[in-house]
Amino acid sequence: MIFTIAIDGPAAAGKGTISRRLAERFGFAHLDTGLLYRAVGALELQGQDAVAAANALDPSDLEREDLRTPEVAQAASRVAAIGAVRQALVDFQRDFARREGGAVLDGRDIGTVICPEAEVKLFVTASAEVRAERRFKELSEKGIDTDYPSVLADVAARDRRDTERADAPMRAAEDAVVLDTSEMDIETAVARAEKEVSAALDKR
Ligand code: CDP
Ligand code: CDP
Repeated sequence: MIFTIAIDGPAAAGKGTISRRLAERFGFAHLDTGLLYRAVGALELQGQDAVAAANALDPSDLEREDLRTPEVAQAASRVAAIGAVRQALVDFQRDFARREGGAVLDGRDIGTVICPEAEVKLFVTASAEVRAERRFKELSEKGIDTDYPSVLADVAARDRRDTERADAPMRAAEDAVVLDTSEMDIETAVARAEKEVSAALDKR
């Protein structure tokens, strides 16, 4: 069975958590596409050319320990605005999306550019303040030294860059279901997402 669930939205909206839970529940493979850009960003911070790094990206690059840091997140959003970097990563993501057995991909442009034919599209969002609070809590728990104002500034800067870039800007696909989780706990958000997927699977 070919079945793609596309989950897009801004930083710390809950995309990753929802995607992992859907993948578990429906037995689908999951790809966090943000990791691809984070890996390229991390290599660029080390002095590599971003386009060359994207073209030579290796699965082991996605297992680096430092990919979750705010510095790498900023670098990811900078390299993600380079058209040739995005282009280098398209085939891998499309192949993943249409693999046999079903796939969940989360990112910014899955429902619009990578897989416009996805059977389910969700755009998960929340206010910048709520998202920054969630991300601040997460980073603190991981022992990463930061503060709420810096996290909010990081989230806002990436939102702006991701929305305003010319190539594959972040936006909800016209046929996406928008899930605003500002006042929704994660269990409720997951349940809503599961309902959308179950309905689409039933229609087949
Ligand atoms: O986890 P979080 O939402 O904070 O970030 P991420 O999903 O890991 O993405 C990091 C950065 O990669 C984003 O700010 C985007 O600039 C970029 N990205 C993208 O342009 N397209 C995607 N499909 C996924 C991520
Ligand atoms: O993948 P993305 O950056 O969109 O977000 P995430 O990593 O799934 O979620 C960021 C953090 O917010 C996690 O610790 C989630 O458990 C939390 N979260 C929440 O508390 N309530 C929600 N409705 C969504 C996410």
